[in-house]
Amino acid sequence: MLDLVKELQKEVAGFVPSGKDDLDTFRLKYLTKKGVIGKLFSDFKLVDNKDKKKFGQEINNLKKSAEAKFKEYQNCFNKSPSSTKDDFSKPVSLDGLGSRHPISIIKNEIISIFNSIGFKLSDGPEIEDDWHNFSALNLPEEHPARDMQDTFFIQQNPDVLLRTHTSSVQIRHMTSNKPPIRILSPGRVFRNEAISSRAHCIFHQVEGLYIDDGVNFSDLKQTLLYFAKKMFGEKTKIRLRPSYFPFTEPSAEVDIYWGLKSESDYRITKGTGWLEILGCGMVDPNVLENCGIDSEKYSGYAFGMGVERIAMLKFGVKDLRLFFENDIRFLKQFSSL
Ligand code: PHE
Repeated sequence: MLDLVKELQKEVAGFVPSGKDDLDTFRLKYLTKKGVIGKLFSDFKLVDNKDKKKFGQEINNLKKSAEAKFKEYQNCFNKSPSSTKDDFSKPVSLDGLGSRHPISIIKNEIISIFNSIGFKLSDGPEIEDDWHNFSALNLPEEHPARDMQDTFFIQQNPDVLLRTHTSSVQIRHMTSNKPPIRILSPGRVFRNEAISSRAHCIFHQVEGLYIDDGVNFSDLKQTLLYFAKKMFGEKTKIRLRPSYFPFTEPSAEVDIYWGLKSESDYRITKGTGWLEILGCGMVDPNVLENCGIDSEKYSGYAFGMGVERIAMLKFGVKDLRLFFENDIRFLKQFSSL
């Protein structure tokens, strides 16, 4: 009889149920009164007195290990079968998925438009030095145009600052690469401005740069027209107004024709029907020379736009602060995009 107990112990130890039914069969076989262990207990009286102690210990061990085995698997099979946590082959429920932030949606859209015409991404640090953010961009110390971009300095060190635009990435790229250069630099930028419905101290930019042999202003205009049509619709018209940036000459601001259909169109376009979307120009030869590029041989254009501004126009968002508050009721509205 001892042999039978040993055999059952082996069987219990090696048992792995294939499902709930299998586990139930196990329970009926081992853990009920009429099961094999119950029978062993009732046969106990037939065992020789001298063997009783040993035999008693063995069947108690067998009972304990059968109970432990049952408990181990009972919890797995008792959970709801619809729970994907247990059934890894089930498709995942798509309820409650998050959504992309509207700024990411627009940033990705801008990137993909320019990617399609050969612009590659280029990245740079958010903490910059004076040279890359200002001096190399034709903004030497004491230049009055530095006031156009109120700057956050780090630890009162005037040489270490939070970049005020991603033009700093263009300087880094031009310094370490040879033309032709065709890059796009998206990223966060920082300006010490009072926060309002139209301005924030942190915002996002995408800037572009194209340097090659014989690049001219009409290349710039065509590229921006292509962008505006892809972004705002095929019928979009643009106009370029003369402007000033220290790093480009000539410089321009680009407007799109928004129309004057509603009262709000009058308000946001100040009655003109036109809305500014970006700044641009031909890279100033001084900037090329600062980066070791021969300005006699090469020319190029640059442009830069605020992602928040484009997102406000496309989504009809009236207050820029909404992009930074992470209010789920606002963000949820972009979930289908
Ligand atoms: N860097 C400018 C800004 O932040 C934008 C710009 C980029 C203008 C390139 C012209 C050319 O305002």
